[in-house]
Amino acid sequence: MDASSSTRPHMVVAVDGPSGSGKSSISKKSAEQMGLSFLDTGAMYRALTWFCLKNELDHEDQIQPKLIKEYFDLWISIDPTVEKVVVNNEDITREIREDLVTTNVSKYAAMSKVREFLVKKQRELVELAGQRIVVEGRDIGSVVLPNADFKIYITASDEARAKRRAVQTNSDEKLVLESQKIRDSLDTNRSVSPLIIPENAVVLDNSSLDFDQSVDRFIQIVSA
Ligand code: DC
Repeated sequence: MDASSSTRPHMVVAVDGPSGSGKSSISKKSAEQMGLSFLDTGAMYRALTWFCLKNELDHEDQIQPKLIKEYFDLWISIDPTVEKVVVNNEDITREIREDLVTTNVSKYAAMSKVREFLVKKQRELVELAGQRIVVEGRDIGSVVLPNADFKIYITASDEARAKRRAVQTNSDEKLVLESQKIRDSLDTNRSVSPLIIPENAVVLDNSSLDFDQSVDRFIQIVSA
């Protein structure tokens, strides 16, 4: 475990960045190595999307915070070594990564009522982790945790991100690049909580770094 993270009473690390930048796996591994909890907030948006699709809720007026609070019981692992998402006692860890959810999630993530509900839950989970946690998403340093101890913006060139995703999913690089551009544009141009580089964030561009080098750089940043 890193010395600075073990001696600080609280260690909240906010990580943001575009899809395909490797931010999820880099943050998770770094959290594990530093003995911190880890929260993947994208998985929470995916879980709510899965729930809305299942229950045919597709209009923002159908998604009242009171209603979600009552019927959407979300449990998500904050252990960096355990990936698990449960909704209403159903394990949906695998389902939230499927195409149906992936193609619909940007629409739900752009709804202010959805964000209001999930941001509150994210802050509660940070407390539950005793404020010793790496939280990863798109609006973490800017909206969810503006007072985080460290803010990191993980990114890579469009081509590097598309290439990695194409290899992971065994798909055509050009097609991946196209759909990536659409998702980047939805995430950065939406009116509520768009993806931005938060003030005071350190930019970790890993276009020419491998996974282990990226984790080393991450840990170096939060050990400063
Ligand atoms: O990181 P991901 O691909 O699993 O995220 C899924 C979607 O949720 C993506 O469209 C971005 C959105 N998201 C968001 O708007 N805010 C967050 N804090 C995390 C994810």
